[in-house]
Amino acid sequence: MIKPNPFTPQSGWEPRVFGGREEAISLFSSSLESAASIRPNHLVILGEWGIGKTSLLKQFRRVAQSKGYPACFCALSKFTKRDRPLDAVYLIAEEMLMGFPGPGIDSEGLLKLFSRQKSLSQAQTQFTKFLLELWGKIDAGLAVVLLDDLQNLLPISNTIDILRAVLSKEEVIKGTRFLFALSSTPSSWSMFIDKHDPVGRFFRKRLIVENLTPGEVESTVENTLEDTGVVFEKEVKEKVSEYTGGHPYEVQLLSSHLYDSQIGGRVDSSVWGAALLNTLKELGKDYFTSLLSKASEREKHLLKILAEEKKPLAITDFRNMMIVNRRAGKFPIANIKNFLYRLEEKGIITRDRSGNFDIPDRMFREFILKFS
Ligand SMILES: Nc1ncnc2c1ncn2[C@@H]1O[C@H](COP(=O)(O)OP(=O)(O)O)[C@@H](O)[C@H]1O
Ligand SMILES: [Mg+2]
Repeated sequence: MIKPNPFTPQSGWEPRVFGGREEAISLFSSSLESAASIRPNHLVILGEWGIGKTSLLKQFRRVAQSKGYPACFCALSKFTKRDRPLDAVYLIAEEMLMGFPGPGIDSEGLLKLFSRQKSLSQAQTQFTKFLLELWGKIDAGLAVVLLDDLQNLLPISNTIDILRAVLSKEEVIKGTRFLFALSSTPSSWSMFIDKHDPVGRFFRKRLIVENLTPGEVESTVENTLEDTGVVFEKEVKEKVSEYTGGHPYEVQLLSSHLYDSQIGGRVDSSVWGAALLNTLKELGKDYFTSLLSKASEREKHLLKILAEEKKPLAITDFRNMMIVNRRAGKFPIANIKNFLYRLEEKGIITRDRSGNFDIPDRMFREFILKFS
């Protein structure tokens, strides 16, 4: 019998097989040890959407707990300008109480520490008191707090500064042992740092989450398929790695579509085209359509050339192609440079050290070719 689809193309769903990330896990393990024996060095995990931040934090929770340190996972919801930092701090406190259940913990009593009058200095003193009292009830050498999706706090960005201020207080350093690991998108994190200068200096330990390597993709796919009754041909596995560049969400989504195309338990190259197309359509809904809509018509024209050429191009390459291939029509050739720079600013294309432009994501390139 063929088993149900084992892939997890849903944001926030832990993969059935957690691939790679050995360095990150060992860095976290050593952070745990030094936090328990010396003092905590709080961690920041940075990565774009779908790269695996949530899954990594949940893996961290497992590692911490297996070493005997209680850990709680707190997914931050989207806040608006109308919210106050105290609302966010209160949410974190609530999640901590749920994540650190202990016989001696009086959750209601602890939450009463937060008065409803929401001023900034209060958030700070109240959270300090909360940490001190909660720590008194935790029977362990260290407790870990995982805060996911910090970018959701951007409209009330001073929350991060409050967190920094509390965690750097003498009484908190001496009287508690909490290790925090925060995740954020890189652009939001740099905004936090710009706005609240000490934040960057306080959260100094950064961990950048990157794509999986080709070997990690193949073994993740292979191990996920174990005992399902389905096998992917070697060529198919290689193509998954090649097309996704090791982006975990794309790997899961593409593999999930491939899995659904099995015939007699086998997935070979004959089903590749259809599975790819379905994957691109879903990536479009998730992300690519909105990314592409940021480009003007002129910019899309250049983007299409870049997608068709399938290699990094310099400004002169674009110019020559426009002139020689008579692609230009009424295209304002003198402005090519500006259009390219604008595409780069919008995060749609990248520029390498030698000044050549490229589309960084192979799947996005395929999307442009098929749907623009
Ligand atoms: N190390 C990994 N190995 C295999 N799949 C992963 C890994 N990390 C994440 N994934 C998968 O990738 C997708 C996105 O992961 P997620 O943790 O939600 O990313 P983020 O929080 O950065 O948006 C999910 O489908 C998840 O199952
Ligand atoms: Mg996430």
